[in-house]
Amino acid sequence: MISEDVIQKVKELNNIVDVVSETVRLKRAGRYYTGLCPFHHEKTPSFTVTPDKQIYKCFGCGEAGNVISFVMKTKNVSFGDAVQILADRVNIDIKYKDKSGFGTNPNEKLYKINVEAARYFFSNLRKDRKSRSYLLARGIAEKTINNFGLGYALDSWDGLLRFLKGKGYSELDMLEAGLIIKSKKGSFYDRFRNRIIFPVFDYRGRVIGFGGRVLDDSKPKYLNSPETNIFKKGTNLYGLNFAIKNNTDRMFIIVEGYMDCISLHQNGINSAVASLGTALTSSQAKLLKRYADKVIISYDADLAGEKATLRGLHILKEEGFDVRVLTIPDGKDPDEYIRGHGKEAFISLVKSSTQLIDYRIEKAAEGIDLNNPQNIVKYAEAAVDIIKELTPVEKDIYIRKLSEKTGIKDQALYDLMNNNLQKHDKNYENMNSDEVFGNKLYVEPIYVKAERELLKLIINKKEIQDYALQFLNEETFISQKSKDIFELVLENLEASEDEIGKLIEVNFKDADIIKEWINIVEIKLISENCDYKILVDDYIKEIKKYKLEETKRKIMNEIKNYESEGKINESLKLAQELINIQKELGGM
Ligand code: UTP
Ligand code: MN
Repeated sequence: MISEDVIQKVKELNNIVDVVSETVRLKRAGRYYTGLCPFHHEKTPSFTVTPDKQIYKCFGCGEAGNVISFVMKTKNVSFGDAVQILADRVNIDIKYKDKSGFGTNPNEKLYKINVEAARYFFSNLRKDRKSRSYLLARGIAEKTINNFGLGYALDSWDGLLRFLKGKGYSELDMLEAGLIIKSKKGSFYDRFRNRIIFPVFDYRGRVIGFGGRVLDDSKPKYLNSPETNIFKKGTNLYGLNFAIKNNTDRMFIIVEGYMDCISLHQNGINSAVASLGTALTSSQAKLLKRYADKVIISYDADLAGEKATLRGLHILKEEGFDVRVLTIPDGKDPDEYIRGHGKEAFISLVKSSTQLIDYRIEKAAEGIDLNNPQNIVKYAEAAVDIIKELTPVEKDIYIRKLSEKTGIKDQALYDLMNNNLQKHDKNYENMNSDEVFGNKLYVEPIYVKAERELLKLIINKKEIQDYALQFLNEETFISQKSKDIFELVLENLEASEDEIGKLIEVNFKDADIIKEWINIVEIKLISENCDYKILVDDYIKEIKKYKLEETKRKIMNEIKNYESEGKINESLKLAQELINIQKELGGM
């Protein structure tokens, strides 16, 4: 069994917007995102993803679901495999059990082929003088090469390809792992050629991809594995598997590059991890948060001030980290600095690192001449723009600091901040959530809505349960999904909507039930002064009516058939039944 905890955790850590974005181009529209539906062909977007609720819904074809059912449907995998894929995506370890639920990890082959490739690269480096002396010249010790599994990709078009073939892997396996490339003419060749290889490990130390560096000044300097099922941008941090080993003070130093990370580790700074040149994402922040509360960013001075980087750092703050910025003198990177000045010098830089906010305010002040009184206001504006994102207590502290620095009174700074707030945040709300989307393709029979509303009521309005259950049993419902959900509700009469939702996932592991469930959750009950009993009666009546009308249609068809076959007696018998049904319908 996949436990409820695992499912919840996987859902919590895999933001549906991020996961859907891997296959659908989404655009933000107020509280939700829209895009072209991956489940039917369309030219105008009817597909929506709502981050608040972590669900998706298509107003064109009626598809709906959560992050797990999205993976099930788009990748055509089972519930267990979808959970596994999502767990791998955010680096959580779930235990395998053979019975119901997990078989083997669907990504097992990818992990295996990557290890084989890493071994191959590693053994090349042992034999290749040129690449070994390159690393040694850069101060990388033999021991470090072993620890980080560094390797070398031969200057050959098919060195790895032939090696892996020999191990029984197909071209398709290699393509899926991003290790080879298919040429326009259809032939295959190694992705990494004549490069130093850095295997990328996940937090458990499994090889998930590679980075390859040229040995000279040619471009591109680094080549990385493409996205694969186990190598996803923004979900992992290089060196984390090493950094978590001896980390006692819950603090990490985040650097940009492979070489920075390796070089710090070699010099005894074991808390270094590398973001590999991209802005940090919330999934990386969540991953780090398991092991640390404080992070020190040691990026290139220019890069640390860039918008994309700041957004990444803001994400760390939002995840609750104490975020500091370490600036290295003379525009050096951590690797160069520690090689030149040693561990102690680097540690004193760590000690002198500044709070992210101070750093950002300093940055805002850069290039503004504060001796000119006119510039002081400009500076204050830039600073309150940063301060406005803080918690009230932090605001208080930083406004006071700013007041001391600029000589502007606290209150005036608050006014400035609040004015700016209004200017910025106006056009956000007022978004009409009933906006017209692409054409609706599907029409649901009336009973579908009635069944959903009934289930919604008996789950959410415990006071009418007794009343409703007098009239309800499994046979009341037409759709099998409603029957299944009803049965679950019956067994858990006290459970809240949330709890039922969890039970549904654990018990059914079925994308279509999840879809049905999302539709139930999405119903908004009329809340005020409403006699829910009357609603219950109405919905039951609607379902009955639908069943009767269905029967009526069927009988009319049969009558027609009998008549054409000349079976008058049979047709008369049915006609009587029809009259009864008509009567019943008329009385409704
Ligand atoms: P750097 O250029 O700072 O690399 O890029 P580095 O690690 O200091 O490398 P050396 O010291 O010149 O050998 C930082 C990171 O950005 C990514 C790599 O992950 C690199 O480690 N990057 C950089 C690429 O992916 N591709 C590139 O072409 C360049
Ligand atoms: Mn470098």
